[in-house]
Amino acid sequence: MIKLSNVSKEYPKRGFALRDVSFQIQKGEFAFLMGHSGSGKSTTLRLIHMADRPTSGEVRVTGYSSDKMPDREIWKVRRRVGCVFQDFRLLPGRSAQENVSFALEVTGAPRKTIQPRAQRLLSQVGLAPKAGALVHEISGGEQQRVAVARALANDPFVLLADEPTGNLDDRATRGIVELFWDLNARGMAVLMATHDLELVRRYPNARVLELDQGRLVFDSNPT
Ligand SMILES: Nc1ncnc2c1ncn2[C@@H]1O[C@H](COP(=O)(O)OP(=O)(O)OP(=O)(O)O)[C@@H](O)[C@H]1O
Ligand SMILES: [Mg+2]
Repeated sequence: MIKLSNVSKEYPKRGFALRDVSFQIQKGEFAFLMGHSGSGKSTTLRLIHMADRPTSGEVRVTGYSSDKMPDREIWKVRRRVGCVFQDFRLLPGRSAQENVSFALEVTGAPRKTIQPRAQRLLSQVGLAPKAGALVHEISGGEQQRVAVARALANDPFVLLADEPTGNLDDRATRGIVELFWDLNARGMAVLMATHDLELVRRYPNARVLELDQGRLVFDSNPT
């Protein structure tokens, strides 16, 4: 479903961000992507989202290959992959409901369906009561839930999360990771980048992948 084969990524002047990384994520898996700052976590997620292409090697996402895909078709992959980030990246000055609705509009969802679907997505992340609240007037944990609801608008098969709890306190962090487990229990694969070892230890059933200086140095459950 996601397959990296001997993937390297070199940035001009900065050298290699990833070196010869290979792993697969199967349907419905939950995996943490660990590693120190600069180890290549965000680069890995960007390559899977096809926001960037590898220097060598191949990234395959549901049958699409980084080798063969013309730029004009990259949106086909992107719409199968949901992304959330440390800094939420919501539209400021808009409500939770509007943030999710805009994402649905972009997918070309029929106008009549947008409002009820946005409501349903917000309930799914436990935020129905705050649907009308402006995003800067809700807590960080709630903002991240809006971002997750928005990421679900495309009905992705995988959720990529780049340090999604980096700006959250302990309680909100648990809430977000529990939400990811819920989504995972309903069939969605989750790949979450974090350097929080304590957090990862709380989830012994999750797969753990670890990067060090761009190399994959540990995989608890190679597939
Ligand atoms: N757009 C870029 N241009 C040049 N170098 C980059 C770029 N993006 C990342 N790098 C370099 O690639 C390496 C890996 O960066 P990456 O952001 O993937 O690490 P990370 O594991 O996500 O780190 P952090 O935990 O700090 O977010 C770093 O040395 C970084 O400086
Ligand atoms: Mg990063």
